Amino acid sequence: MSDFLVPDHSVEETLTSFRDNNKSVHAPRILMLYGSLRAESYSKKATQEAARVLQSFGAEVKIYDPTGLPVFDRENYQHEKVKELHELALWSEGMVWCSPELHGNLTSVIKNQIDWIPLSLGAVRPTQGRTLAVMQVSGGSQSFNAVNSLRILGRWMRMFTIPNQSSVAMAWKEFNDDGSMKDSDYRDRIVDVMEELFRMTLLLRDQKDFLGHRFSEHKDDYQEKIKSSLYGRSIE
Ligand SMILES: Cc1cc2nc3c(=O)[nH]c(=O)nc-3n(C[C@H](O)[C@H](O)[C@H](O)COP(=O)(O)O)c2cc1C
Repeated sequence: MSDFLVPDHSVEETLTSFRDNNKSVHAPRILMLYGSLRAESYSKKATQEAARVLQSFGAEVKIYDPTGLPVFDRENYQHEKVKELHELALWSEGMVWCSPELHGNLTSVIKNQIDWIPLSLGAVRPTQGRTLAVMQVSGGSQSFNAVNSLRILGRWMRMFTIPNQSSVAMAWKEFNDDGSMKDSDYRDRIVDVMEELFRMTLLLRDQKDFLGHRFSEHKDDYQEKIKSSLYGRSIE
């Protein structure tokens, strides 16, 4: 059997580190992005409804307005709307992304916002380790094309996308004239998703370093600990 390096922490050591990290008591900070520029946008209304729900759980919420954000060109980083997006991403501990379904996928408006958020801003990572909830609205029957694509983007941005998600079909039927959402299973689902996001953010927000630890980046630390069998322990 070939020799290989292994980490050599006890379970107690790892658990103590995890428990000791959980110190923050402030309201979880959630940034919400939606994917439409329409004045009467249902993805914006669904986002606003979800924001009210999050606030009722105790979160601090900011909704980014994508109007005026230039098309991503990898150059215009000094643009006011780009800087605003970066500052909000850095501020956040969790995010909600809500896209309409257009042609069976997410919209350029939501993708453009995500493309403008770099994996690192200097030494700081604006998305890595943050929680993420994904939502979509559509005009037709219920589907999950946009949320599935948002999940792929969440992985690429190194976020923890929660299992629950929201897909509001025939969104034009689901809102009152004042912009609030009618009572329905779709609204109940949004409440469930926001509750899960809120709780997962409480659980994970202080654990970025703990969860971001990579064995492969600490191989030198383990140089002295070469073991020659499976994880250095004999299997009885
Ligand atoms: C060009 C275009 C393509 C669309 N494609 C789909 C689609 O693939 N599936 C669907 O259910 N609805 C589709 N719709 C309906 C939109 O999802 C619906 O109008 C939604 O409310 C738009 O989001 P917004 O209200 O936030 O602007 C499409 C609408 C447009 C204008």
